[in-house]
Amino acid sequence: MATAGRGQWSGKAGFILAAAGSAIGLGNIWRFPYTAGENGGGAFVLVYLLFVLVIGIPVVLSELSIGRFTKLNPVGAFKKLAPGTNWKWLGGLGVLTGFGILAFYSVIAGWTLSYLWGAITGHIGGVTTAAESEAIFTTLISGSYMPVILTAIFMILTVVVVRGGVSEGIERATKILMPTLLVMLVIMAIRSITLPGGMEGVAYLFSPDFSKLSVGVVLAALGQAMFSLSLGMGAMITYGSYFPDSENLPQAGVIVALFDTGIAFLAGLIIFPALFSVGVDPNGGPGLVFVVLPSIFAQLPAGGLFAIAFYFLLAIAALTSTISLLEVVVAYFVDEKGWARQRAAITIGIACFLFALPSALSQGAVGWLTDFLGTGITFLDLQNIIWGNYSLSFGALMLCIFVGWKWGIPAALVSLEASGHKLPASAFFSAMVRFVCPVAVGIILIYIMWTQQYF
Ligand code: PFF
Repeated sequence: MATAGRGQWSGKAGFILAAAGSAIGLGNIWRFPYTAGENGGGAFVLVYLLFVLVIGIPVVLSELSIGRFTKLNPVGAFKKLAPGTNWKWLGGLGVLTGFGILAFYSVIAGWTLSYLWGAITGHIGGVTTAAESEAIFTTLISGSYMPVILTAIFMILTVVVVRGGVSEGIERATKILMPTLLVMLVIMAIRSITLPGGMEGVAYLFSPDFSKLSVGVVLAALGQAMFSLSLGMGAMITYGSYFPDSENLPQAGVIVALFDTGIAFLAGLIIFPALFSVGVDPNGGPGLVFVVLPSIFAQLPAGGLFAIAFYFLLAIAALTSTISLLEVVVAYFVDEKGWARQRAAITIGIACFLFALPSALSQGAVGWLTDFLGTGITFLDLQNIIWGNYSLSFGALMLCIFVGWKWGIPAALVSLEASGHKLPASAFFSAMVRFVCPVAVGIILIYIMWTQQYF
């Protein structure tokens, strides 16, 4: 039984859908394709896949084991497992990172709402040229009002669901919508690959050109793996804390990780063939997906309707992720500070919206936010890199050290195997958590500090 009043998933399927809902989101459909495009395609994708398998899955299992064992938020969990130590700060960093990610993620999520509206009014469906599509996108994101209003709407939606609690709110929303999204993505990938010139995009994605590899590419791949799997900030600790003791946790964790990676690849198979087909530059940055997708809808029978359904589901996929981001912060205030869930959700939602404002206005509306402090990148991009790459990678590194060397693999296994289902390849898990992950992530972070190639 979970701690009274905290709530619990209704079962394994409920957890898988909710955790997959957290993992699958803009990270797969927006961030993965443009990051792959910026980092040269195939080589990035290969490193990303490697990181998912050797770091991502062990970290998923580590976080879930802590969550299930402690049934607490990240800060409470570290306090319980290592009382009187500084480990609680790692939980604190996770809570802060959740807040930081939510503040820029909600801005992009707001863009999806605008595209949904554009699809409903037919504004998006009729777009055929890349230039037209680009103009629509730029007008939207560089405005002073719309991005702010859309971010606010998205934040309100997130607060409303999180206020409702674990199984009523989060689970119900994901059960039907995630499978529908999957089916639509498959249809779109098939259409995209069969466009004239589409196979070029497939080749770009899957044939690695190792001359493109650099430390920046490797960090981007690591950050992307952590971001996409919702790791390194305690989201999986929090979601694991609602997992019933009677169910097979290792299996559920691995399914979520593979499902998430599959969706990212599907998104790549949608974006890159289409991009080569219409002649858009893969190195197009955060606008890539928004610019490319309308050209696919124009090529589909009933494309207008398809576009409405797609943007609706994309917004929902984003919502199931923002829910998990807010949930981490809310769980902290509920468990540790004794706040009522309602009050926590609303207060944090408002604070996070305020912190999202500079990101929302950084796409052209306000000059100094657009080239932030002479970094050459926007405030939003900077947030994305700080929280999404650095903080999550550092969080994952420290988490591995904690589980591998402080709490201990045997304790993690007891939690993972609480239902009696064994973790296959537990020696591999142990080697990854104790040695491979800390060393690999540590080297990447130190190398970046050393060479000062921060972005
Ligand atoms: N995994 C989400 C995505 O790919 O869109 C983003 C995310 C959610 C990151 C929750 C981290 C997190 F804790």
